[in-house]
Amino acid sequence: MPPATSSSVLRRVDDEGDIAKNRNAALNDPRTVWREAFRTVRAETERRSAPLSAEDQIVQSMSDASPTKWHRAHTTWFFEQFLLVPHLAGYRVFDQRFAYLFNSYYVAAGPRHARPQRGLITRPDGEHVGAYRAHVDEAVERLVRTASKAQLAEVLRVLEIGLHHEQQHQELILTDILHAFAQNPVVPGYDVDWRPPPPPSPTRGFAELPCGIHTIGFEGAGYCFDNEAPAHQTFLQPVRIARGLVANAQWLEFMAEGGYATPSLWLADGWATVETEGWNAPGYWRAIDGVWHSLTLGGLKPVDPDVPVCHVSYYEADAFARWAGKHLPTEAEWEVAARDNLLDDAFGIVWQWTRSAYLPYPGYRAAAGALGEYNGKFMINQMVLRGSSHATPPGHSRVSYRNFFYPPARWQFSGLRLVDYVG
Ligand SMILES: [Fe+2]
Repeated sequence: MPPATSSSVLRRVDDEGDIAKNRNAALNDPRTVWREAFRTVRAETERRSAPLSAEDQIVQSMSDASPTKWHRAHTTWFFEQFLLVPHLAGYRVFDQRFAYLFNSYYVAAGPRHARPQRGLITRPDGEHVGAYRAHVDEAVERLVRTASKAQLAEVLRVLEIGLHHEQQHQELILTDILHAFAQNPVVPGYDVDWRPPPPPSPTRGFAELPCGIHTIGFEGAGYCFDNEAPAHQTFLQPVRIARGLVANAQWLEFMAEGGYATPSLWLADGWATVETEGWNAPGYWRAIDGVWHSLTLGGLKPVDPDVPVCHVSYYEADAFARWAGKHLPTEAEWEVAARDNLLDDAFGIVWQWTRSAYLPYPGYRAAAGALGEYNGKFMINQMVLRGSSHATPPGHSRVSYRNFFYPPARWQFSGLRLVDYVG
């Protein structure tokens, strides 16, 4: 994947962040390779947090978003709870109260603080969370160094889950602080040097997908989350998929033609949300002297018509597709097209809504225990997004990756591409 962004803050993670890429080396010297992967991922969290003040790191702008300080502590608790406590003999828990504060949704791991109230936790302060991270970092490295041969495979399995988990939170650090900044009348920028990803490839038009039976889902070597498996067969109708993403220029046309004021374009729940929320443009857009601006990680910028539209909900993506006389792809159509290299800008720009409900693949069973809660229990009422965004850490994108959010959500870096059915 090419560099996802030209941000001075976001750019610095290189291929070391690609955990899977180090797998061959790991066969020879797994302890060193995984220690380095651990250091790289943990450092990236701190690097993304560094531009944020102590005040920035406390704020929680809505119940769906979490404070930066909470993300830093929660990812640390994850290693403590699932790796150190069960596997490192004599490990001293940093603070017994933190399990209550920083457990997110793992019922099997015990009681937890109410999610909408994470922004009220001013203590432990950021410095203390830093000490927590250092305490756990030292212990994880000690475990990787000293685990017996019999222990090592399980230790590294959980470590790898923890690293991918932390990378997911690295993206959330950015999406959540952007939402917080959007509530601030002076609209701060996260990184004044941030620039949007390079303009999308000039290729336009649609690519035809071969009709028939295809295999989707993860198979082979490397890491995947449990929701990407089992690989299975699926049948595709004749369909053409847009090579490119929907751009702001097209969205402005949709708006100019009354897209946000035409109930017949919307699902009932979508139209109810338009009315309740007063939506008349994508998230973070505001008109200044008649010119549309958008809040980005670099601050408030004029909307660039050539850039893919971002911060649209499923409801908006669905209404746009109807207005365009097209459809959103299913996740199977998206994945088949991506596997055949038919998509431009599949990764690193914006997540792309599909019209697939987030459901278990045939034969999927969540694992037993708390880690089985990671994905499986959320397979209801959400829609799948594919690809990755400019905030996704390098090495965290793959063709079988299934992201998922509720239909009204638009604080993620979410956009769309279209499909058209043949005949
Ligand atoms: Fe988490």
